[in-house]
Parts: sequence; structure tokens; C-alpha cells
Amino acid sequence: MTDNVLQDQIAYYRARAGEYDEWFYRVGRYDWGAERNGQWFAEVETVVKALRSVGKIGTALELAAGTGNFTKELATIAAQVVALDASPEVLEINRDKVNSVNVEFRQADLFNWQPDTQYDLVFMSFWMSHVPPEKLDGFLETVRQATKVGGQVFMVDSLRDQTRTSTASNHADYDPESIYHTRKLNDGQEYTIVKMFYDESLVAKLAEHGFTAEYHTSGDYFWWASSTVK
Ligand SMILES: C[S@@+](CC[C@H](N)C(=O)[O-])C[C@H]1O[C@@H](n2cnc3c(N)ncnc32)[C@H](O)[C@@H]1O
Repeated sequence: MTDNVLQDQIAYYRARAGEYDEWFYRVGRYDWGAERNGQWFAEVETVVKALRSVGKIGTALELAAGTGNFTKELATIAAQVVALDASPEVLEINRDKVNSVNVEFRQADLFNWQPDTQYDLVFMSFWMSHVPPEKLDGFLETVRQATKVGGQVFMVDSLRDQTRTSTASNHADYDPESIYHTRKLNDGQEYTIVKMFYDESLVAKLAEHGFTAEYHTSGDYFWWASSTVK
């Protein structure tokens, strides 16, 4: 089943490209009112500050770059950025938004991809939650291969938020026992995706793959892990 869902997941993000930013900027079905939205943006700022603390670097690889909400940050801290995503539609939006000559965009399915070089920083935002448990070891191994010794990996993703305000107001409550969640587009079309809420136990998993990691949370909405490769 999971392989079919991973294809549905790509189809979902391709179809959602033009409305994706409504989630990040808390618009329409994702507008939960001034207080919750304010909390969200404050937590985004906490994560962005943590990312900026990486400092200036040479090369960065962004996995599942999407519409570029973090690509623009990477473009300011790295001399060169390679941004990968399976969806040509989101990459097009990203290219227009970031509008920077130091970012190269590549289309790739991350479950069928191997790095051809190593980077000072490998970054991914809201991607880990779409990696199913059975693919986690293989994925982390690929990430390690993409990272220089002494290089860094920065991951940010969703906490299992108790307020249920991270997602759209018309998304049904999910089954906490299932890794599969239903998502709707604005027109009501439904897709199934993988949604994992990796917790602090990810630090031990990262260590198995040669990373020294720290796990942090921003409050209600996000966790991030910053790792170095031994
Ligand atoms: C939740 S979005 C995150 C986008 C962006 N990183 C952000 O922070 O907004 C997940 C992204 O993963 C991409 N994606 C889904 N399946 C993929 C796959 N198999 N390989 C590469 N990208 C994939 C989608 O196109 C989408 O842009």
C-alpha cells in the first residue's frame, strides 16, 4: 500500500502547488484566527533563527524544497543551493519566488534518488513527516551520503499539535494509529499521504547513521533537528 500512497503523495503536492502557501501563510482553510496564527508565525521565526545560526556556508542541498518558503533563507546563507522536488509545479513557483542565481532546481523522486556530490548542509522542511518508517533507514543513509564529513543536516517538521490547528479546518481528525492521512484540496478532491510525527527518538536513529543530532521544539507546531556528520 505504501508505494501507492507515495505516488498519491506526489500527485497531491503537484495538484496543490498553487494553493500550498495558504498553509504556510495561514490563509483560507488554514486561518485559525489572530491568536493561533500569531503563535504559528512566532514559531516559524524561532525555526528560521535556528537555521540562520548555521552561519555562512558554501553549498546547501534542499530536499523536497516545495514552493520555496525556506529556499529563500538557504539562498542567503549558502553560496550555492541545489533545490530538489518531485513536483515541477512547485519548483516553478519556487524559482519565481526565490529569483536568485545561486539556486539550481532539479526534479527528483527522493525515494529513487542518489546524490552525485556532497554538501556542507542538507536541509529539509516538512519532508521527514512524509517518509514512512520502512523507508527511514534507506533515506537517512542517502542523506548521510549527501553530506560532507563535518557537514550539517537540518530538519524541521510538524509536531503532533494538540490544538489541531496546523492543518486545514475541513481535514478530518486522523487515526493516531495510522501513518496514512487524508488531505483535501480547495475543490474537495481527496488524496492519501503519509504523515509521521517523528519525536526525540529520531536522535538515536540519526546516530545509527553517523549523525550527532539535537532535537528541539518551538512550542505547539514544529520540531527541528540539527545534526553534524561524524
Ligand atoms: C509538505 S511539502 C514541503 C515543502 C517545503 N519544503 C516547505 O517547507 O514548504 C512536501 C514536498 O515534498 C514534495 N514531494 C512529495 N513526494 C516527493 C518525492 N517522492 N520526492 C521528492 N519530493 C516529493 C512535494 O512536491 C512537496 O513540495
